Amino acid sequence: MADFIINTDDNVYIPAEDSYLLADNLEIRQDQSVLEIGTGSGVVAMYASRLTDRITVTDINFDACELARKNFEENGIENIEILFGNLFEPVKNRKFDVILFNTPYLPTEEGEVLDDTINYAFDGGLNGRKVIDVFLDEVGNHLNDGGIVQLIQSSLSGNDETLTKLDELGFIAEIKATEHFFFEDITLINAYKI
Ligand SMILES: C[S@@+](CC[C@H](N)C(=O)[O-])C[C@H]1O[C@@H](n2cnc3c(N)ncnc32)[C@H](O)[C@@H]1O
Repeated sequence: MADFIINTDDNVYIPAEDSYLLADNLEIRQDQSVLEIGTGSGVVAMYASRLTDRITVTDINFDACELARKNFEENGIENIEILFGNLFEPVKNRKFDVILFNTPYLPTEEGEVLDDTINYAFDGGLNGRKVIDVFLDEVGNHLNDGGIVQLIQSSLSGNDETLTKLDELGFIAEIKATEHFFFEDITLINAYKI
């Protein structure tokens, strides 16, 4: 894959191994509609734009929305819709074929919470599942039949809990890829709505 120009911002997640684990394993067919929750710099969506023209991204961090807009512009990518807001709130009543989320998955103690918007990038609450569980509860309402969810998390935030929850919600889910770091595995989970 050729590189993109990727500007960064102190208040926005800088693309890292987890971003590329998702970007390198996208399961998007031509013309499928894609929603990326938590686009950050927009890096994953830019890779997705090589596969389809129908992409919407959101972020709860307004600085991320602004940075993604800048990155899309500088890379000549014109037709990604950017929406500011919490999880699916900006796409009420809309459904997509593919939903992507590199989640804020780090278990975070109260004393580790940063008083800045960058906190949204990593803060998964005490067990790392604060955002993941809400996302999983809602994602089925926004996915077309035959669609796929691709989610990144850490072994520290409970892979089995995610797989069990997806099973209970009626998805066929699997760990598609992992990368080992010092004290955790970063995991890509694919879940199919049948
Ligand atoms: C780990 S970063 C991933 C950023 C980018 N997608 C990447 O892979 O480099 C998580 C992103 O999700 C966003 N985020 C966290 N909670 C969110 C929520 N409830 N709704 C929307 N976006 C959220 C953060 O602001 C951050 O940009």
